[in-house]
Amino acid sequence: MKVAKAARFLFALAAKLDRRRLIGAMLIMLAGYSAAPLAALSLAVFADDLIGRRGQAALAAALLAAAFLVIQLMGGHFSHLCSGRLYEHQLAALNIELIEIVGRPPGIEHLDDPEFADQIDLIRNSLFGTAQALESLFSLTGLALQTAITISILIRIDPWLAFMPAFAVPAMLLGKHAQTISETARLRCAEGIRLNRHFVVLATSISTAKELRLFGAEAEILRRQETLWDGVTNRMWRAQAAAAALRSLGQLIFTLGAAGTVLLTVRLAQERQMTIGSLLLVIILLIQVNAQMAMALTQLSVLQAAGGTAERITRLRRVCRARTAVATRRTATITSPLAGGITLDDVSFAYPGSSELVLDRVSLDMPAGHTIALVGENGAGKSTLAKLLCGLYSPTSGKILIDGVDLADVAPDEWRAQVAAMFQDFARLEFVTRETIGLGELPLLSDERAIARAVSRARADKVVAHIPGGLDGVVGHNYKQGADLSGGQWQILALARCLMREHPLLLVLDEPAAALDATAEHELFERYACSAKCAAVQLGGVTVLITHRFSTVLMADRIAVLERGRIREYGSHQRLIADNALYAELYRLQEQAHRS
Ligand SMILES: Nc1ncnc2c1ncn2[C@@H]1O[C@H](COP(=O)(O)OP(=O)(O)O)[C@@H](O)[C@H]1O
Ligand SMILES: [Mg+2]
Repeated sequence: MKVAKAARFLFALAAKLDRRRLIGAMLIMLAGYSAAPLAALSLAVFADDLIGRRGQAALAAALLAAAFLVIQLMGGHFSHLCSGRLYEHQLAALNIELIEIVGRPPGIEHLDDPEFADQIDLIRNSLFGTAQALESLFSLTGLALQTAITISILIRIDPWLAFMPAFAVPAMLLGKHAQTISETARLRCAEGIRLNRHFVVLATSISTAKELRLFGAEAEILRRQETLWDGVTNRMWRAQAAAAALRSLGQLIFTLGAAGTVLLTVRLAQERQMTIGSLLLVIILLIQVNAQMAMALTQLSVLQAAGGTAERITRLRRVCRARTAVATRRTATITSPLAGGITLDDVSFAYPGSSELVLDRVSLDMPAGHTIALVGENGAGKSTLAKLLCGLYSPTSGKILIDGVDLADVAPDEWRAQVAAMFQDFARLEFVTRETIGLGELPLLSDERAIARAVSRARADKVVAHIPGGLDGVVGHNYKQGADLSGGQWQILALARCLMREHPLLLVLDEPAAALDATAEHELFERYACSAKCAAVQLGGVTVLITHRFSTVLMADRIAVLERGRIREYGSHQRLIADNALYAELYRLQEQAHRS
């Protein structure tokens, strides 16, 4: 059961984080909850003593009732204070756990799995609620104790009265069913709600305004949004109406039960088997029970949602642990410098959840110290190949060999530390600029000179000068003072970050076109090719560059032409021109375009 799962998960987490605070919060909460029926009991005694003209006893009962009322009011308050800190600890721990689940497995295949991504999304959106559910758990335990005390008081007045809380059970069950109906409707409408949000964003964002205005498409978007929203609200409204009907039925049953209970107590009072105080007590407890059940229902639904999250976290923990365990068995090492180079041996690859081969039996020999250019149409698989080389994905079949060592046997961290890459979908890391760049090589994060060198190599000086505060200024929308950068400027920072690692065994540059104009790209590679050649003697690093510019491609030692996941041609520029096939044709086309 989800509630039990949530209880176990939350208690275990809280006990691990701060056992003393957990016990403290729990005890205070229990005291607060049990005080309510005891206050009612003291009031009843007070009433009877007052009627019986027992002054002293009446005063004592009144004081006791007042004390219980104070405990009831303060219990919630202090327990909340206590559990507030626990909540913060829990939230921090859950955030860390989520980051670990995403970050610890060696590759990033799990992130491509739509189901994994969905689960992560669901967890991320419900972390606050889950951490808060600990308080619901306290409340629910308190309510259970309160009900037990209430029943034991009622049994003493008349055994039949002990059934009174049972009248709340149908109300609870129907209420729960009503909740399921609302939630199912919300879930079914989730896509509609998401799409609606998308339409609203489309219609109100600066990034889409240019095109929409030009096409005159605003009215069309509005029409679609209205139709969609009508459908969503209709469905939601029908569900809400059904849920309200069920809740009313539950309340009706409880009211009938309560009326019966009142009648029974009035009769008992008339037959003088019951004092006025007891009559008062039954009525107060009746009111309390109704409120308790409504509260229990709310807390149960909070816990149920938390149970779902707990279940997801536990499942993903297992996935993460299994993947990490596989990685820890990888113990082969790679020695620098590279002697032979990197070899792709019959590598095929399909993205997780897809059967389509994005790379189809690719074999490539990339000798140490060489620069390899990858060319091919969009979607040919160039970026995918780059990600595989970095060890972010594992081949579906075939091997990637680094100096003859299978990358699948190498500890992922070990290989990653030797790789520098600028991906086509580079990250926009919003930090202080020197960190945005320096993160490319953590040990050099505060090395002024290394950062200056990376800035110079990536020709990022202009971008840095544009940022108020330069290297000490912050970049991105998340800061009030954060510099607004264009896509190209972000890419230049990404390039500088990539170049922080000065002598990697593998350097990957995936279409740095926006960051670099043709001359700058040419120059960078010229310098790079030169330094790679020099470094080849020392380190034997391999450079893989993906570009559409043939002026740069020309400089590579070897060129691989990819077509729909297969290597069509591989060799030096001269050889491929001499072969007079696809590469030669593409090259001539670009040359003609340049001349005209
Ligand atoms: N994360 C992904 N999940 C599923 N398919 C992907 C993913 N990334 C790329 N693809 C698919 O893989 C194919 C090759 O993409 P990519 O390697 O980016 O090509 P290129 O870099 O040559 O333009 C494309 O058909 C693309 O749709
Ligand atoms: Mg690409």
